[in-house]
Amino acid sequence: MAKHIGILTSGGDCPGLNAAIRGTGKAIAEMGMDLIGFRDGFRGLVQDRTFTLDQNLLSGILTLGGTILGTSRDKPHKMPIGNKVMDMTDVIVETYKRHNLDALVCIGGGGTQKNAYRLLKAGLNIITLPKTIDNDIPFTDTSIGFDTALGIAVEAIDRLHSTATSHHRIIVVEVMGHRAGWLALGAGMAGGADVILIPEIPYNIENISEAISERTHAGKRFSIVVVAEGAMSTEDSKKISKLLKEKEKAEKKSELMRISENLNQFHQFHVNHTLTLASQLEKLTGLESRLTILGHLQRGGTPSAADRILATNLGTACAKLIKEGRYGEMIAVQGNRLISVKLKDVSGSKKLVPQNHPWIESAKLVGTCFGD
Ligand code: F6P
Repeated sequence: MAKHIGILTSGGDCPGLNAAIRGTGKAIAEMGMDLIGFRDGFRGLVQDRTFTLDQNLLSGILTLGGTILGTSRDKPHKMPIGNKVMDMTDVIVETYKRHNLDALVCIGGGGTQKNAYRLLKAGLNIITLPKTIDNDIPFTDTSIGFDTALGIAVEAIDRLHSTATSHHRIIVVEVMGHRAGWLALGAGMAGGADVILIPEIPYNIENISEAISERTHAGKRFSIVVVAEGAMSTEDSKKISKLLKEKEKAEKKSELMRISENLNQFHQFHVNHTLTLASQLEKLTGLESRLTILGHLQRGGTPSAADRILATNLGTACAKLIKEGRYGEMIAVQGNRLISVKLKDVSGSKKLVPQNHPWIESAKLVGTCFGD
């Protein structure tokens, strides 16, 4: 039976990670196994920076935001070391063996699932938990952090509503979500946004200004426009798709450097993009506009009740799987059930909002404009 287990959190932090560490750790101890934490994601495995997650450390962290383990976006096979980018997979395998680990739990988003699968192929016993405010991990209805981020974004939209109404303004609110529109769609619907722009539905600015002008004619002299950070116009959507295809194929160091540059530009492009969108709407509609970028606020603070329950369920299910000696799987939620899916199937794929998703249909039926 498994005895020594390792755990790490990787990728962007979010509320609910500590609840997942606690759930996993307490259940693991209950089953007679012990747990060590690796600091700062896969980098902690390379540098062998660990600490024992005893009961004292696992107490009092259920409600705590962030991750007590620390996190990073480092990838095992492409890790910046000094001024080089190196494949550190073998070093990670050595650390795993040095600690006599029987399994390694990796909690993270899409990138983490991919990296964890790489370590599985390198011979480690891996189990993963889905975590991301973007909600874009396939085969699971939801992931740790999404519900909390949704709540934070909705509260912000509610507050922006009253000031938009008082000043008869357009308020453009940018929410996170990377290349998926789940957070913007959910927050926009729950916050009663008049326009929701998501990456899955490229927009035409004229359609948005027409929708806002129609509201003005109907006596509604304000509008809330919720924009996913990855949303883009039809023309930009074509340009970005080309860039992303190049990224998929890149392997060499020179290519990697060019890609990081492109990624930075991509990020910058979107910050400017939402600002530009707000001023374009001001010009086209004649209504004053303001921009609010929610940014990392959406990843901070205490997890919602739903995320605490989800993280506890996923963590304890993970301990059960380890006890059964089942590896190479991600714990997922489908309907009311906790299931496990093969990492091979999760790795490298993304759950985007389908064009015919019921949320989109409902939002359109209450008059929300998607700019299409
Ligand atoms: O994946 C989570 C996420 O918050 C995305 O929504 C966002 O695009 C990205 O991380 C921001 O990353 P960072 O914190 O590294 O700037």
